[in-house]
Amino acid sequence: MIKCSNRSDIPPFLALDSMIEAKALEAKGADIIHLEIGQPSSPAPKAVMQALIEAMGDGDTHGYSVAKGVPALRDAISADYAKTYDARISSDDIAITVGSSTAFALSFLAAFDVGDRVALPTPGYPAYRNLMMAMGIEPVALPARAEQSWMPSLREMESWDELPDGLIIASPHNPTGVVLSESEMKEICDWCQKHSVRLISDEIYHGLTYGKQATTAAHYSSDAIIVSGFSKYFSMTGWRLGWMVIPQDLKPSVERLIANLYISAPTPNQMGAIHAFDATPELDANLARYAANRTILLEGLAPEFLGNHAPCDGAFYLYADISAISNDSQKLADDLLHKAGVAVTAGVDFDPEQGHKHLRLSFAGATKDMHEAVRRINAFIKEHIKTQKSA
Ligand SMILES: Cc1ncc(COP(=O)(O)O)c(C=O)c1O
Repeated sequence: MIKCSNRSDIPPFLALDSMIEAKALEAKGADIIHLEIGQPSSPAPKAVMQALIEAMGDGDTHGYSVAKGVPALRDAISADYAKTYDARISSDDIAITVGSSTAFALSFLAAFDVGDRVALPTPGYPAYRNLMMAMGIEPVALPARAEQSWMPSLREMESWDELPDGLIIASPHNPTGVVLSESEMKEICDWCQKHSVRLISDEIYHGLTYGKQATTAAHYSSDAIIVSGFSKYFSMTGWRLGWMVIPQDLKPSVERLIANLYISAPTPNQMGAIHAFDATPELDANLARYAANRTILLEGLAPEFLGNHAPCDGAFYLYADISAISNDSQKLADDLLHKAGVAVTAGVDFDPEQGHKHLRLSFAGATKDMHEAVRRINAFIKEHIKTQKSA
């Protein structure tokens, strides 16, 4: 038999599987509301699209850029760190990646060896865990629970037989929407520094908060790898552009890895993205829509469905505790899709142990869809509870 690798035999990314299934139903004529995927329904900023068209007209976009990316884009990101966070980050320490997703692959390859252990607050973004498994890195779940305000416990890691080699955090967090305060972020950075644990701070949802302010690990650590990108606040998901801020000791290896892995991120898209930072009014209007969507779900959904939901102070997700009505989030997600026409993601994608009690709903879509989702979900839940009672 011809060989296939064992290490690539990783779990599927269920949110994407749900989207594929929902789209297949739509292709057969079904009317589906999409709450399964973390993708803004609004287009990329107008200034970005205009800049892309102009750059293509100029004809200087057909080649590779330098490995770390178009210098003017790295300068724009550096200037934004200064303006938004008062953080000094040299454009030389920034690399443009193909979505933030490849920044994780680069970080794992540059920072860890096969067999190293990396702590992952759980629930958490599934691709971290799955990608690590494919690379022979051991993901170690660090439980974050509703009773602890969904915060991972540093003390818990100290009780392990061995400290991990790395820790990944995300603030705002997917799927819980937890936003770390300045002092919480500082405590995590200081702890990692003290114990020589490499911190990876996923800041992809920066710009998307509701009444709180997200802070960057760049304030507190020069050893942390910071990952961010254009897919969320900037509404440029399909442009596949992200970035990483690279600590000095990893710079040569990250640069070599980029050159060998993808040579450079797509040049035309980088030229357009330079103007993303000029589009704040347009992007803040999207943020206002997400805030309205969040309120519609929180105020409209039946309490049995929302349960002890996570705070959703940031990102655009609601992590609903459905344990009052079901102990099988995948089955409930399937039923919601097929019987109510609402696509959501089962919590098991984010937490293999406890995710059977949760569903993640994305409120990145259109406001009219949120009203319709509430109507459909509540009608479904009413029927579901009636059937449970009569069984
Ligand atoms: C927490 C988190 N990090 C990273 C990503 C990857 O985003 P992208 O590769 O589009 O930048 C996502 C996508 O949903 C995410 O939720």
